[in-house]
Amino acid sequence: MSHEEDADLPKHLRRKKLGAKPLIHETAVVRHSTFGKFCKVGARTTIIESEVGDYSYAVNDAEIVYTTIGKFVSIGPLVGLNPANHPYERASQSHFTYKSWQYFEDVDDEAELFDDRRSARVTIGHDAWVGRAAIVLPGRTVGIGSIVAAGAVVTKDVAPYTIVGGNPAREIRPRFAPDIATRLLELKWWEWSHRDLKRALGDFRSLSVEAFLGKYEAEAEANRIIDPLL
Ligand SMILES: CC(C)(COP(=O)(O)OP(=O)(O)OC[C@H]1O[C@@H](n2cnc3c(N)ncnc32)[C@H](O)[C@@H]1OP(=O)(O)O)[C@@H](O)C(=O)NCCC(=O)NCCS
Repeated sequence: MSHEEDADLPKHLRRKKLGAKPLIHETAVVRHSTFGKFCKVGARTTIIESEVGDYSYAVNDAEIVYTTIGKFVSIGPLVGLNPANHPYERASQSHFTYKSWQYFEDVDDEAELFDDRRSARVTIGHDAWVGRAAIVLPGRTVGIGSIVAAGAVVTKDVAPYTIVGGNPAREIRPRFAPDIATRLLELKWWEWSHRDLKRALGDFRSLSVEAFLGKYEAEAEANRIIDPLL
């Protein structure tokens, strides 16, 4: 759809250009979090104490807590990243035992419990895609370039360029053959400048991954020869 075709949409649904500042929907709740450039946060999404890398977005109704999100990450609707565990080993796992301030006079919340939760960060690698209503449990890592299928519950780390699905999430198949994945990890296109991304846009769209790697590996090699400092 072209930008002009948005004109018939209600104003709040029209697309806006992304830029240095994140585009955060007015109904989203964002606390103590940082964003790179070209980031977008959709309606009713909550992001708490997280880092969101350049070009990454979360659409509507996601809940993201204590999570490090790489660049170019796509977070689908209703996704849960790092839903917290209650202290179930205790006599009671109820909120009153640790969110105590709301229930009693002269008692604070239990700082240590929140510190433990903070230390169990979720990490989502560059160019990963987390599908609709998927959940990544505390402390897990989703590798670079991976896909978490819609509705999956990730209970174990996901290796780079792997597609996982189901509950508990199991490998569906690799996204790419191992040698292609290795070459993409070495190419690190996610570190390219905005200008270089624009220059390569047509190739991202039209070249096979093999042809894309062939072209840009050769370019990187030529640059290495030209610039002896690299
Ligand atoms: C993971 C996904 C990308 C795979 O797509 P695909 O390669 O076309 O997969 P297929 O439909 O060919 O299915 C391949 C296998 O994976 C299984 N599978 C696919 N999606 C699955 C899911 N969400 N959960 C569990 N298993 C799934 C299929 O049952 C099939 O299994 P089989 O080989 O035993 O028959 C896709 O199914 C998916 O979940 N996309 C997410 C869409 C989404 O949430 N978008 C939100 C917008 S951000």
